[in-house]
This record gives sequence, structure tokens and C-alpha cells, in this order.
Amino acid sequence: MYTVKVDTTADETGACARTKLSFVKKKKMSSGCVLVTGGAGFVGTHSVIELINAGYSVVVVDNFVNASHESLKRVEEICGTKIPIFSVDLTDKQALADLFKKHKFTSVIHFAGLKAVGESCELPLLYYKVNIGGTTNLLEVMKENNVKNLIFSSSATVYGTPEYLPLDENHPTGGCTNPYGKTKYFIEEIMKDLCKSDPEWNIVILRYFNPVGAHKSGKIGEDPKGVPNNLMPYCAQVAVGKRKEINVYGNDYDTPDGTGVRDYIHVEDLAIGHVAAQKKIEECCGLKIYNLGTGQGYSVMDMINALSKAAGKPVPYKIAERRTGDIASCYSKPDLAAKELGWKATRGLDEMCEDLWRWQTMNPDGFNSNGPKS
Ligand code: NAD
Ligand code: UD1
Repeated sequence: MYTVKVDTTADETGACARTKLSFVKKKKMSSGCVLVTGGAGFVGTHSVIELINAGYSVVVVDNFVNASHESLKRVEEICGTKIPIFSVDLTDKQALADLFKKHKFTSVIHFAGLKAVGESCELPLLYYKVNIGGTTNLLEVMKENNVKNLIFSSSATVYGTPEYLPLDENHPTGGCTNPYGKTKYFIEEIMKDLCKSDPEWNIVILRYFNPVGAHKSGKIGEDPKGVPNNLMPYCAQVAVGKRKEINVYGNDYDTPDGTGVRDYIHVEDLAIGHVAAQKKIEECCGLKIYNLGTGQGYSVMDMINALSKAAGKPVPYKIAERRTGDIASCYSKPDLAAKELGWKATRGLDEMCEDLWRWQTMNPDGFNSNGPKS
């Protein structure tokens, strides 16, 4: 556990008399209790493992709208520890307040939300209610309980159509064309305003690029409900024989092979980025924003070829029309996270595909499969 010291003197530059909170670790090992919202989901489960590996105790809240209880059972198996899990919907503020009465948290990592771009265009009010309403409920309850340390899952989607590449954190934000992307942008703005209004808040906004891959054990991974929207889960289902072929959405973009270029990042690297962000929070960092990407762009064809290699067989594909709302290229400049968080993605394309393939073959029906065959 931490005790918190309040220091109202000026900071090291002498320019700002911001109230500083310093965490004094009583134990050598990190032992803060971190609330993880959406901890049963794809990025959440992998991050819970890394937090536990780093010595944190973790409490998970999730309403399981896009996750199964099995995912957290497998996390418990991997970590060899029980995790307190609460089935709470973030739109239910009272339930959230009750949870904060039961547990004392030092910080919150906020993954919970809805993330399907197409669905957000059909159901914008649902997306605004869950993503924005859920987040403001969480922030209010945190404030009421004097828990003012937060890490938030944002997305490269906040940059809209890139004005330049690679994207650094100073690139303008807000040009989002769909309600999902707008919720990420609006939430970022809410968090900036909150930090301006009250300097006791420490908020790290992480802008993810394209998370792929799975845990090395093959026990957990991405388990999309219905038809996958994203490239790699779809390709994996094609490779395992569940779907006939992957549609390549356009081969006439201004990219080396004409197909869309993205910055794919292994979900384990991304998860480790959250531990680095948690350490940053413990320095009382105020508001910070970081890209979490590799800095390397790969095309759709690069990804299909890499997965074919991992699977040991070609992944059938066909060239289709461009998908509305898609951009040609998007990749990060990850230097700020390297400099200030000491974090860098280390897993390459082959490893992303091998790990994805292991998860897919061990669990052809995701968490509904009959346990991982080892
Ligand atoms: P996910 O859907 O697997 O995880 C989100 C979790 O939140 C799920 O377990 C879901 O059941 C839960 N949830 C949804 N609504 C909730 C509510 N009202 N109350 C409580 N729990 C709720 O998604 P993910 O891929 O793990 O993404 C995690 C976060 O990262 C999301 O905020 C997402 O928008 C963001 N993000 C994801 C990607 C990506 O490609 N996976 C990219 C950029 C940003
Ligand atoms: C998408 C979302 C983005 C979200 C991100 C993570 C859109 C427009 N953007 O990003 O807001 O943050 O997922 O969830 O939906 N592709 C194919 N065939 C497919 C699927 C994709 O060719 O069946 C191509 C796309 O055109 C793109 C690339 O693969 O060039 C990656 O697509 P995807 O995995 O959906 O991610 P993004 O579009 O980058």
C-alpha cells in the first residue's frame, strides 16, 4: 500500500506551485490496488496479467457485454492468483459508488467501453451513453473518493486523417468521422479540462495503434462476437477454416503495395505499456498523453503474408472495394513513450502472428472452446 504525502511547494522548475502528491512505498514491491474497468476484455486481460506480474493487486469491473467470465478464469490460471471481479455496468453510478466503498484504490485503468465503429454509426446514443456517460460516472465516483489517478484507453483514431506521418502526440486531434472515434476525442477533452480544473489529478491518456496477437500461453486472446470487424481476427478465422476468405478493402491506396498501412502492436507490448504508465502516475505526472505503437507500418498484404507464414498455409483473400471511413496509412512516432515511460514495443510481426495463431488454433471458438488444448 501507499501513503500519500502532500507537498504544496513549487516544482523543480520553480514555475508552478502545483500541489504535488508523492507516493511513499512502504513495501519494496509495488503493491497499490488498481481498479481495472473492462478488465475481462482483450487489452484488459493482458494488462491485468502484466500488472499482477509487476506486483500490483488488481480488482476488475466489467459488465461482460463483450467478454466472457472464462477469460478472467484463464487469467487467474496464468497468474496463479484469485482476482476480485465485480459485474458492474459503468452507467450504473450507484453500483460503482458501492464498489469504491468496498475497496480502497490507488488508481484506475479504464478500458471499459464499446468499440465497434460500424455499430457506433447505427447506435450513436448508446456509444455516447456508455463511453462518455460511463466515463463521467467513473470520474465523479473517483473524485468523491479522492482517487485521482487514472490511465485511459484512447485510440489513434483521435488523429482523424493524418496531416503528416508518423503521427506524434502534437498532431491535431478531433477530425473523427464516426461516433466511436468522437467518444475517444470527447473523453480526452473532458480529462484535459478536469486536470486543468484540479491539479491533483494525474491522468495518462494512451493512444493505442492496432493491437493484435495474444498471450504466449495461447490461453487468452481476442474473441470477437460474431463477424470480426478488424483485419487480424478475421484473417485468423479464415486461416483456421471458419471463414472462406478475407476481403482486402482496396488495393489502390497511395501505399507501397496499394493496400492500407497500419501500426500493428503486440497486445503484450501494449499491456506492458500500462504498467509503465502506472509507474508514471506514481510520479504524480499531471496530464500526460502517449502513443503506444511500434512506429512501423505494415500493409494489409504484409499482414496476410505474415499470418500465412505463421499458419503454414496461405490465407485466401480477394480484393474488394475500399471500406468507407478508412484512411491509407496510419503509424506512430512512439518516441515520447520511450523517453518518458521507458517503454518500447519489442515484439515483431512474426511474433504477433505466431501468438495469434497459437490462440486461434488452441481456441477455434474463442472462450467457448472446450478449454485450451495443450
Ligand atoms: P473489449 O471490448 O475486448 O474490452 C472492453 C471491455 O469493456 C469488455 O470486456 C466489455 O465487456 C466491457 N464493457 C463494455 N461496456 C461496459 C460497461 N458499460 N460497463 C462495464 N464494462 C463494460 O475491447 P478492447 O479491445 O480490450 O479495448 C479496450 C479499450 O481500448 C476500449 O476502450 C477500446 O475502445 C480501446 N481501444 C481498443 C483498440 C483495439 O483495437 N482493441 C484500439 C484503440 C483503443
Ligand atoms: C479500426 C477502426 C478504428 C479502431 C480500430 C481498433 C475503422 C474505420 N477504424 O481501425 O477506429 O480504433 O479498428 O479497433 O473501422 N481491412 C481489410 N479487410 C478486413 C478488415 C480490415 O482489408 O476485413 C483493412 C482495413 O482497410 C485497414 C486494415 O485492414 O487498412 C486494418 O483494419 P482494422 O483492423 O479494421 O483496423 P483500423 O481500420 O485501422
